[in-house]
Amino acid sequence: MAMIDHWHPTIPSRALRCKPVGVRIAGRAIALFRTSTGETGALDDVCPHRRMRLSLGTVLNDRLQCRYHGWTFDTCGQGESPGTPKLHTCAESYDVREQYGLIWVKPRGVAAPFPQLDIAGYFPICVLQHQAQAPLETTLDNFCEIEHTPTTHAVFGYDLQRMHEVRVCFEPTETTVRVINVGPPKRFGWILRTLVGIGKDWTFNDDWTTYFSPVYSVYDHWWSDPKTGRESKVRWRIAVFFTPIDEHSTALTTLVYAKSTWPGPAGGLRLFRWLLRRNIDHEIDLDVGILNNLADPRPTIEGMKLSRFDRVLGLNRERIDRLYRQRESTSALPPDATKDCVPRT
Ligand code: FES
Ligand SMILES: [Fe+2]
Repeated sequence: MAMIDHWHPTIPSRALRCKPVGVRIAGRAIALFRTSTGETGALDDVCPHRRMRLSLGTVLNDRLQCRYHGWTFDTCGQGESPGTPKLHTCAESYDVREQYGLIWVKPRGVAAPFPQLDIAGYFPICVLQHQAQAPLETTLDNFCEIEHTPTTHAVFGYDLQRMHEVRVCFEPTETTVRVINVGPPKRFGWILRTLVGIGKDWTFNDDWTTYFSPVYSVYDHWWSDPKTGRESKVRWRIAVFFTPIDEHSTALTTLVYAKSTWPGPAGGLRLFRWLLRRNIDHEIDLDVGILNNLADPRPTIEGMKLSRFDRVLGLNRERIDRLYRQRESTSALPPDATKDCVPRT
C-alpha cells in the first residue's frame, strides 16, 4: 500500500463536463473524463501507444480519444486503435465515485474506506480548492494547531494577548487524533458578531479530529458563553482533505457545512452563504501564504523547538507513516514537545 492507495478527492463534479481534465495525486498523473451518460472515467494520464497525455484528448462516443493518433479508451481503460483494429491495449483505470459534490478516485483492487462525513442537520455552504507549496506533513501541521491563528488569520481563532489562557487537549486513538481548543476569541467587526450571534466575553471553540485514510481533518467551530454554556446562533463543520500532489506540494479540498438556530437551520445561511464562503476562502488563503513562505518546508520535526500546541505534530506523523504511507515511522517526537500539553483550567 502506498500514498496513492486511498480514496482521493480531485475536482468538483461540476468542473468536469465534456472536456477531460488532468489531475496529479501523489506524483501520479490521472486523466478524468465524462461520457454522454454522465459516467465518469479516470485513467493514467499517459497513452499506452506513444505516451501522449490523455487529458489533452476529447471524448468521442463515450470513449476518451487520444489527441496524437486517435486511439480510444473506455472508462475501464480498454483501448482500440482505429489504424490497427485488431490491436487492443489497456490504460490503467481507477475506481471513481462522485460524492459531496466532488469526484473521488482510488486505484482498482485496493480496499480503502470511503470517508464518511457526519453532516446530518448541516447546510452545504461551498467546496473550496487551494494548493500549498509544502509537503503533506508540513501542510497538515499548519491546520492542526491554533497558535498561528492570532497572527495569521483575520477572523478565525484566538486573541494574541490572551493566548496563554487557551486550553488545548489531545485525544489520540490508534487511527485518529482529536484536538480540542477553548479560549478568548480574536476580536472582529460587529456585523459578523451579530450575524453569528456572539456575546461579550464568550469563548471560541475549535474542536477537530484528523483521519488518515485519506488524510483529512473535520473541524467544528463555534462560540459559547463560558458561564451559561449558551452557544452562538451559527456553527460550522469544515472537512479539509490534504492530498499530496507530489513530495513538495499539497492540494487542499475543503467542504464547508453550517447550521443556524435562526431563522431555521438553513434560512439565514442561504442568504449569507456567500459571506461564509468568502471568509473561509480568505482564511485558507492566509494559511497557504504562510506555508508558501516557510524557510524550510521539509516535514522533519527534528531540531524544532515545539510548544504545548505542537504535540499533535508527532501524533499525526506517526499515523501518516503507519496508515497513509504504510512505512516505519521516521519521526521521533522530541521529549520537550509533550511538556505542558495537558488542558489548563
Ligand atoms: S500516443 Fe495516443 S494514440 Fe498514439
Ligand atoms: Fe490556519
